[in-house]
Amino acid sequence: MISPTSFAYVADLLRRETAMLCEPGKEYLVEARLLPLARAAGTPDVDSYVARLSTDLAERARAVDALTINETSWFRDLAPYQAFTDAMLPPLLESRKHVKHLEIWSAACSSGQEAYSLTMLLKEHLPPGWTARIHATDVSTTMLERVKAGRYSQVEMNRGMPAQRLVTWFTRVGNEWEVSPELRSMVTTQHLNLAAPFPPMPVFDIVFLRNVLIYFDMDTKRDILRRVSTRISPDGFLLLGSSETTLDLDDAWTREAAGRVWMHRPRTAARPTLATRPPAAPAAATTVAPPAFTALSQTGA
Ligand SMILES: C[S@@+](CC[C@H](N)C(=O)[O-])C[C@H]1O[C@@H](n2cnc3c(N)ncnc32)[C@H](O)[C@@H]1O
Repeated sequence: MISPTSFAYVADLLRRETAMLCEPGKEYLVEARLLPLARAAGTPDVDSYVARLSTDLAERARAVDALTINETSWFRDLAPYQAFTDAMLPPLLESRKHVKHLEIWSAACSSGQEAYSLTMLLKEHLPPGWTARIHATDVSTTMLERVKAGRYSQVEMNRGMPAQRLVTWFTRVGNEWEVSPELRSMVTTQHLNLAAPFPPMPVFDIVFLRNVLIYFDMDTKRDILRRVSTRISPDGFLLLGSSETTLDLDDAWTREAAGRVWMHRPRTAARPTLATRPPAAPAAATTVAPPAFTALSQTGA
């Protein structure tokens, strides 16, 4: 079992690099995640591996990546996606009818199920002539590679993918299912640490920031929510995970009920206006992306 000193080092590292809390009691998890890396690095045990992290930057990045919790599924919890189509899209289709374009942020996207679930709904609900772009960001480069690959195992598909959408949007490649180029062309990826200052980004109409704030302390949650509020349209929407809330954290938000979920909305209009929004149309969507974004359709990844 990992020693208390090594565990404390790893917990501190994780907190510094991602703001994620790793509290006592998680020793087994840390050991299980780091053991394969220790073996691959040729170190005799996890403690020796951890000792190496203080000088080996590449290995340190691999270790942090391996310790992120990437639990996700298609149309996770269903109700947020119901709110997306029933309560968020109708007013945005009206207010954006002149630009006919939507910008959506899947912050902490994990392996991409959230982002691709949204693309399917957009394909089903956007009127002809409209475009949309999903910015999928995460602190884990391994997860971003998975989003770009757009390939999922049968076990992953079994977690929430309806048969009809599977048939419509995926192709079988060996043992995996590959998401269609059409959906991948709507998704861009970017490495982004929510706990650090944000890089240049568009102003978003909808932000999915789900099941990640739970890993942070109160001050970090408050800081992230405040900075997200500067990246969302005055009439935009923020969706959090079912056990997450803006209450008592940031008074920049109001809450509106939509079925079983709360939609969080900017309280004031003192935010970037629509005039700062990028122009519509798919070609423009890829060209206005900040350089760090990777349009999946362009990489062919
Ligand atoms: C539990 S998953 C949630 C995925 C998806 N949003 C969902 O609800 O299914 C949490 C994700 O947050 C990412 N994450 C953890 N700390 C982060 C940080 N500081 N900045 C950005 N992403 C982070 C992890 O890498 C992981 O992919």
